Amino acid sequence: MCGIVGYIGEGSACDVLIDGLSRLEYRGYDSAGIAVRNSDGVIKVVRAKGRLKALEDKIASSGGVEGTSGIGHTRWATHGEPSEYNAHPHTSYGGTVTGVHNGIIENYLELREKLTRHGFSFRSDTDTETAIDLVEYYLMKYRGGPADAIAKAMVRIRGSYALALMFSDEPDRIWVARKDSPIIIGTADGESYIASDVPAILKYTRDVYYIGNLEIACIEAGKAVFYNIDGELIEKEPVHITWDADSAEKGGFEHFMIKEIHEESRVVNDTLNSVIKGENGKYIDLSAAGISDSYIKNISRITIAACGSAYHVGINLQYVMEDLARIPVRVEFASEFRYRKPVLDSDELFIVISQSGETADSLAALREAKKQGVNTLGIVNVVGSSIAREADSVFYTLAGPEIAVATTKAYAAQLAAGYVLSIQFAKVRGTINEDEYVRLISELQTIPEKIQSILRNKDRIQYFAAKYSNAHDVFFIGRGIDYAMALEGSLKMKEVSYIHSEAYAAAELKHGTISLIEDGTLVIGILTQPGLFEKTLSNLVECKSRGAFLMAIAPESREDISAYVDLVELIPDIDSHFTGSLDVVPMQLLGYYLGVARGFDVDKPRNLAKSVTVE
Ligand code: M6R
Repeated sequence: MCGIVGYIGEGSACDVLIDGLSRLEYRGYDSAGIAVRNSDGVIKVVRAKGRLKALEDKIASSGGVEGTSGIGHTRWATHGEPSEYNAHPHTSYGGTVTGVHNGIIENYLELREKLTRHGFSFRSDTDTETAIDLVEYYLMKYRGGPADAIAKAMVRIRGSYALALMFSDEPDRIWVARKDSPIIIGTADGESYIASDVPAILKYTRDVYYIGNLEIACIEAGKAVFYNIDGELIEKEPVHITWDADSAEKGGFEHFMIKEIHEESRVVNDTLNSVIKGENGKYIDLSAAGISDSYIKNISRITIAACGSAYHVGINLQYVMEDLARIPVRVEFASEFRYRKPVLDSDELFIVISQSGETADSLAALREAKKQGVNTLGIVNVVGSSIAREADSVFYTLAGPEIAVATTKAYAAQLAAGYVLSIQFAKVRGTINEDEYVRLISELQTIPEKIQSILRNKDRIQYFAAKYSNAHDVFFIGRGIDYAMALEGSLKMKEVSYIHSEAYAAAELKHGTISLIEDGTLVIGILTQPGLFEKTLSNLVECKSRGAFLMAIAPESREDISAYVDLVELIPDIDSHFTGSLDVVPMQLLGYYLGVARGFDVDKPRNLAKSVTVE
């Protein structure tokens, strides 16, 4: 949700800001803006509705923007429609503070009233403006300088924020404050950078500081100083980023989404290899994630909380973990869990799955579980993210930066991490024997090559997508693990191609929804589970009798299904617990190619943002 960039150094701030924003546009793209201070100390603000290109055009037509320090923002609207008027940066009523914000100021109406009583009036519909005005209010009232004014505002603000602020009287500094919204600072020789996410500044520096909750940073060219909310200095060491900047570039692919689908084989391999050890006699070692055998033996049950696709991973793992390890597992939308006074068992393991590690609801669910004193584990992709820092232990998925808004490779890595946990839990708790343990690990290790073999045949899906790009309603059906995959296939189709689709547990269709099936309705059945194959096939045939066009995703060994359906996508055979890693690939490709065929921006679907840091 919203991307922030900042720069202070000797180069063109405008160039750095636009470049950084272009790498953060996946976080929001309703409007964008920059504020740059010139050599006379004057701050020029340029804002435009729509994509970054509109801002670039406006900057060009305004004669350019000169200066060596500034802040920029790309917006995903929460309060106030997407418009130039609501675009960031915003300048305070008295003109002393210019700032950008990511997050939500929950008590903004109360703050508006307070500020109105003190003579402020407002220039936008945003919550952001109240935060910036509040800083100005404390600056003027107490005359204690920026750190003091920001800290006082932080005490009054409820909600989440990453704020980057320029003060008219502080030409050589930019200030940053954070609560529950990500923001990092990078330094290099004589230059400093601010960003919502590492890829925005990776081209300039690999030395990055993570700002903690309720912390303040003062950034000057080449250095950063940190304070807590009481104004005390905090010592921080920079983290050296080791991953390659290329992983945040398209690398010859037309879109990030298709590039990231092609990376799935590698990220699954990397994630598996991070914990599978031993040359002869493979075994799983979870010590890096802080998970010991005694820890595993003690688990009474598991709750998984997550959002969106990560929630779908949770649903899939519920089937796998319960079957292999015989531990009761429940899966919850993180957004529901946090508000329903959940009852947790003292020996329960609470797992949060999150690519970004910053999803507001997932973070809040984690905090609720911690408050109740249960063990927490994050399955997280972004190193140093809030969930990674707050969970008791972390299993890092090694997917690298994921740029396309629709998750693909991070989803694949999350599933792989969950499989490993399930197998190890089963082994330690004695629900599988040594031979089965070794067999399951070997099966896992076949996934990367099998993903590649599916990708080698992607043209078939592309051809089908071109033919079916006018579809209006699509139904995905499956049972057990296949139902979990139907959920993800349907989400991919909706978010990228904007075709309405729904996912159903196959037998549920006839309890109401089958009334929507008519001539030509596309129904996609996933049939990878041996014991459920015939049953889901019957449900597909019920749809066909009502005019549906049937597509099936099935293992190669069930090629016989082609006699019953109109189109088959065969996936390589694999142990039935792990089929999700394979059948998701054709569904991701289908969503992608439909989106492309329909002419949409598949990497940045409308109304969506990559990292949902508001609830
Ligand atoms: O960063 P997270 O994994 O916590 O994000 C959760 C969801 O917002 C995310 O999976 C979302 O559903 C994806 N855009 C779907 O492709």
